[in-house]
Amino acid sequence: MRADIVILAAGQGSRMKSSLPKVLHRIAGKPMLEHVIISAQHTQKKVGEGKIHVVIGHGAEQVKTALGHYDLNWVVQEEQLGTGHAVQQALPGCQGADVVLVLYGDVPLIHSSSLQSLLAASNGERLGLLTINLANPSGYGRIIRDGFGSIQAIVEDKDATPEQLAVNEVNTGIMAIPGSQADRWINSLKNDNAQQEFYLTDIVSMAVVEETPVIHVQPQIPIEVEGVNSRVQLMELERARQRQLANNLMINGVTVIDPERLDIRGDIKTGRDITLDINVVLEGDVELADNVCIEPGCIIRNSVIGEGVLIKANSIVENAHIGAGCEVGPFARLRPGTELQERARVGNFVEIKKTVVGKGSKVNHLSYIGDSELGDGVNIGAGTITCNYDGVNKFRTVIGDGAFIGSNSSLVAPVTVGSGATVGAGSTITKSVTDDQLAIARARQRNIEGWVRPTKK
Ligand code: UD1
Ligand code: CA
Repeated sequence: MRADIVILAAGQGSRMKSSLPKVLHRIAGKPMLEHVIISAQHTQKKVGEGKIHVVIGHGAEQVKTALGHYDLNWVVQEEQLGTGHAVQQALPGCQGADVVLVLYGDVPLIHSSSLQSLLAASNGERLGLLTINLANPSGYGRIIRDGFGSIQAIVEDKDATPEQLAVNEVNTGIMAIPGSQADRWINSLKNDNAQQEFYLTDIVSMAVVEETPVIHVQPQIPIEVEGVNSRVQLMELERARQRQLANNLMINGVTVIDPERLDIRGDIKTGRDITLDINVVLEGDVELADNVCIEPGCIIRNSVIGEGVLIKANSIVENAHIGAGCEVGPFARLRPGTELQERARVGNFVEIKKTVVGKGSKVNHLSYIGDSELGDGVNIGAGTITCNYDGVNKFRTVIGDGAFIGSNSSLVAPVTVGSGATVGAGSTITKSVTDDQLAIARARQRNIEGWVRPTKK
């Protein structure tokens, strides 16, 4: 079945009070519209094929740029004349589709399984509506049924009679239109209503007149069809989505200490027996292998964390690769291009950037290591700094296997310290040290006998 999907995203979203188009506001780290696109793609894969058309208007260029990497047919709706008019703009691209499924860019949590049910029930032959019953239906289009319970029409809130306003079943806006009828129905919509808009919902009564069956399906959970009009609603959906993501992790063998204090803003792959303590933020593409433990207050972004790694409290890890059995933190900062090989240790107040730290090597206290290559079994003393930048260019520091760098040393790059070499504490190393040498580069100590302290005049 070819199911073309039209995502409506042209509206302004003025209640967001934002210069960012509404559909680009993020939920779980991704623009709302991207969630809808992912769900649409997934649905198409399940039912067969189809194109995705996105109707944009307000902030069109910004939206296109933000999601330009998806294979989408962008359709610009110059003036927002109603949902029917919006879908009409996409129809030329839908020629040959068995069904046209309409989604909203600001209804981000719609789940593919609900869409698949709707498509299965309508099957390109019936007009399918996704509806929901609400205790407070105000603002929504009401589903009007006849005495036999058959759907007769959708009446918008602003056009409804008091009797119709009392109906609790509402239109979520999501509908599956038979491809063979879509053009004819939508091209004959009129705007003679309270809002003078071309209502997509008016095709329901057209279908009824033509005796095309109109069916309904309900979503698995109500949150799926909730729209975002304000930042308060954005936050509510964010928390709901976070809860779903945390539940998925727990179902897959991750201990989450408090799902209310975990935030996932990207795509996370996890092994088993992982523990995520409170106030952890996982962003972008993050992979956590078995037995990883992340202590409170850590941010992990676009990184791969190997088996059994312990990341202690308040550490920040970005674009890094951490090998099995490493320990990091507390208060460590691993910046992009950090690779820790197995069992390496990085301790408190250490910053590492574009550096490979070899197996079992230790950088335990108060150091900055940048643009460097550390062999295996290296020991970097407290307060060691690689001086990698002369104000214009960056230079590399290379340290061989088993080297020992004494505390409070400065390694002025480009510089090499050979395997097994030792650098005395407090040295400023400007010349390379070969294997097994001891380098000391600090002022000699003088002890002065009989020194008399100054006294107050
Ligand atoms: C619409 C439905 C209503 C339903 C409600 C669910 C119609 C006529 N009404 O009403 O039955 O209960 O959604 O939320 O369809 N949009 C465009 N271009 C336009 C108009 C709208 O892209 O010209 C987009 C908006 O950006 C938004 C979506 O379509 O994402 C819905 O538009 P909105 O104006 O919010 O529709 P409602 O009046 O809420
Ligand atoms: Ca709306």
